[in-house]
Amino acid sequence: MRTVVLVLGLAMAAWILVAQTPPEQPIPYSHKHHVGTVKLQCKFCHENKEPGELMGIPAAGKCMGCHKSIKADSPHIQRLAGFAESNRPVPWKRIYQIPAYVFFSHQTHLQGAVNKCADCHGAVETRDALFKEFPTNMGSCMECHQKKKVSNDCTFCHEQRN
Ligand code: HEC
Ligand code: HEC
Ligand code: HEC
Ligand code: HEC
Ligand code: HEC
Repeated sequence: MRTVVLVLGLAMAAWILVAQTPPEQPIPYSHKHHVGTVKLQCKFCHENKEPGELMGIPAAGKCMGCHKSIKADSPHIQRLAGFAESNRPVPWKRIYQIPAYVFFSHQTHLQGAVNKCADCHGAVETRDALFKEFPTNMGSCMECHQKKKVSNDCTFCHEQRN
């Protein structure tokens, strides 16, 4: 019993260490600065285009609206400009991503009882670099559904297969 507890404890500690360390991003973009100080709204960059499943990550061109003039000499901004000019996506390391066989829609969640980004992504506006603050495994989806009295039928999140 004691070993099981110890092993579980170590596994948790490992999860926290691995998951709570922000991955190194190609450009040191800061949510704390752009949301907290510059006061941009989430939806300025994360548009949640129809059909509403994804929030999306903005293209470099969107950043250049400001950065053509702001800090244009910074090597980070010059790299950003390079992506924008050649119309390539910035290779951001993704933080929250679930497999394609799971159905999840931001739009329906945001229209319901869980309508705050912070419910699933934490205090983004206070973070320089993002890390996974909440797990996105099946258990964590089901835990909240159970609390909010939302269905946990398998076909709710997984399409029916024949
Ligand atoms: C100026 C544009 C901009 C604004 C405003 C912005 N973001 Fe972001 N967001 C980004 C960029 C660029 C990334 C990818 C780099 C990163 O992970 O930091 C990102 C990544 C994320 C991610 C991680 C996505 C993933 O799976 O990799 C989350 C969650 C997120 N933003 C939430 C928010 C929330 C919540 C707000 C408002 C409080 C917000 N963002 C405001 C540009 C923006
Ligand atoms: C109920 C939990 C939940 C809420 C609330 C939520 N998200 Fe997410 N978010 C997720 C999950 C799960 C993913 C992974 C989705 C995937 O891979 O399909 C994700 C992915 C993202 C991504 C990565 C790009 C994408 O579209 O997959 C961004 C950016 C993001 N969320 C921003 C936001 C913002 C901004 C808000 C508030 C307006 C928000 N999220 C609210 C759970 C949530
Ligand atoms: C509304 C204007 C605005 C937008 C849009 C914007 N930024 Fe910024 N950004 C700023 C300001 C203001 C600063 C701070 C400049 C300073 O320190 O003097 C900044 C600073 C930065 C820095 C630090 C530069 C350095 O070397 O010090 C990076 C990196 C950055 N932004 C990336 C981005 C990315 C990536 C996007 C798009 C996802 C983006 N910004 C969109 C206004 C903006
Ligand atoms: C913090 C709480 C919370 C978390 C975490 C959460 N959900 Fe939900 N989910 C809800 C609520 C509340 C509703 C009901 C929304 C409404 O009012 O229609 C819902 C509804 C749904 C629906 C039905 C609506 C639709 O879009 O068709 C699906 C499917 C779903 N969730 C999948 C997921 C998956 C997959 C995850 C994990 C990646 C997840 N949820 C995580 C609270 C949550
Ligand atoms: C509230 C949403 C939700 C419900 C309900 C749900 N799942 Fe899942 N399921 C997920 C998510 C999210 C993942 C992906 C987990 C990950 O990324 O590790 C997943 C993954 C899986 C996997 C793949 C696991 C693996 O490790 O490859 C199986 C099998 C599965 N679910 C079966 C089921 C069965 C059987 C039920 C009904 C008892 C069910 N699911 C109900 C959200 C859900």
